[in-house]
Amino acid sequence: MSTIQPIRVGIVGLGQRGLQHLKALWTLQQEGIVHITALVDTYLDNLTENKIRQHIDGFQLGHIHTSTDFFQTLKSIPLDAIYFAIPPSIHKGEIVSSAQAGIHIFAEKPMSLYLNEVIEMEQEIASHGVIATVGFQQRYDSRYESALQFLRDKEIVMISMIMNSTLEGHSVKHTHTEKQGGPVNRIWTSNYQWSGSTVVEAGIHQVDLMRYWAGDIAWVEANYVERDSSDIVDGGDNPYAYQVTFGFASGAIGNLILSRLRKVFYTDSYNSILWTHGHLKFEPEGVVAYHYEGPYPPAQPPSQEETRHLLPLADQRNATEEISRAFVQAITTGNAKVLKSTFSSGMNSLVAVLGANLSHQLKGRRIYLEELLTDSEFEWFRKK
Ligand SMILES: NC(=O)c1ccc[n+]([C@@H]2O[C@H](COP(=O)([O-])OP(=O)(O)OC[C@H]3O[C@@H](n4cnc5c(N)ncnc54)[C@H](O)[C@@H]3O)[C@@H](O)[C@H]2O)c1
Repeated sequence: MSTIQPIRVGIVGLGQRGLQHLKALWTLQQEGIVHITALVDTYLDNLTENKIRQHIDGFQLGHIHTSTDFFQTLKSIPLDAIYFAIPPSIHKGEIVSSAQAGIHIFAEKPMSLYLNEVIEMEQEIASHGVIATVGFQQRYDSRYESALQFLRDKEIVMISMIMNSTLEGHSVKHTHTEKQGGPVNRIWTSNYQWSGSTVVEAGIHQVDLMRYWAGDIAWVEANYVERDSSDIVDGGDNPYAYQVTFGFASGAIGNLILSRLRKVFYTDSYNSILWTHGHLKFEPEGVVAYHYEGPYPPAQPPSQEETRHLLPLADQRNATEEISRAFVQAITTGNAKVLKSTFSSGMNSLVAVLGANLSHQLKGRRIYLEELLTDSEFEWFRKK
């Protein structure tokens, strides 16, 4: 019998993402790894067993503490770790207080829309020595892991990620934004003030993947096409289209192109990683590398067999469950190295997407991330 005590976890925010985490933790609880101890949400209707069961088969509240008051819960309920899955614009010191209480932290991306706020979070996490990660679960997706393995000994020159999607088409959201001056339809991801733009809210995943493969970003340049004021419905004011260029410390370039059109209901995407002598693509069949390794120069144009290579792939796992397994393992062993992204290392993804917003505001000026974090010129942008 294992003598390791299950990690006592709480979740703050039982909306779209918090429910996904709860589902993963419910599985880990059956395995005796965690003990779901507290659930906190501003709205009581998000905390009822009936509602949660619509998302997690067989879920039972049992002895789980539920509350609409985070700080009261922090004071009264002993917890080892807390997941934060609330909209990024409305943090009120919850992560800082948790770190100060020595509690390990799982923060959903984007950790905040304000650099000073997130810098304070990072400092408190570091000074209290707690384990902390960010919801970049795509790093645990076997397709992206196999790309990483394949690219390890190659020099990436350019990564391009394009995603066209619809302004209205987000999954259901659970924050009662209609009571907080936000969209009545609750799709706060379409609103700039709530989401910080599509680049920040959604594009941060692509940016973090680019960093997974190509390392840290040094600078960013961006131009957005703003939505016409006559085309804003229910607070959905995020730009129509975004074009962002990232400069990696390695010298590689990244391109992120996003759009959020209204009345279209059509989505498509294109992703490619170029290294000095090949392309890596994510195709329906799997991850495919296009490169030629035969005698050079070839006597005739190489065949498809010689240039198209399907990469071996580990079984597809549930990335949301995997990131939680890694987080819990890091806490149990005290070894943060099992995390594919810590809070601190994830900062570069956040600073890069916030830097894109600033670059657009400054008409496409190149923003160096180091300066954005420290230069007095940008204090107005960093503060909440
Ligand atoms: N990693 C991913 O793939 C992924 C996917 C979806 C969302 N997210 C992120 O998760 C976060 C939450 O998004 P969501 O889609 O779950 O939103 P949501 O609106 O569906 O849910 C947020 C929940 O938090 C609650 N809440 C808000 N403020 C609170 C507070 N101060 N204390 C307690 N509860 C509070 C709301 O009532 C709501 O139930 C966002 O940062 C979002 O970007 C990440």
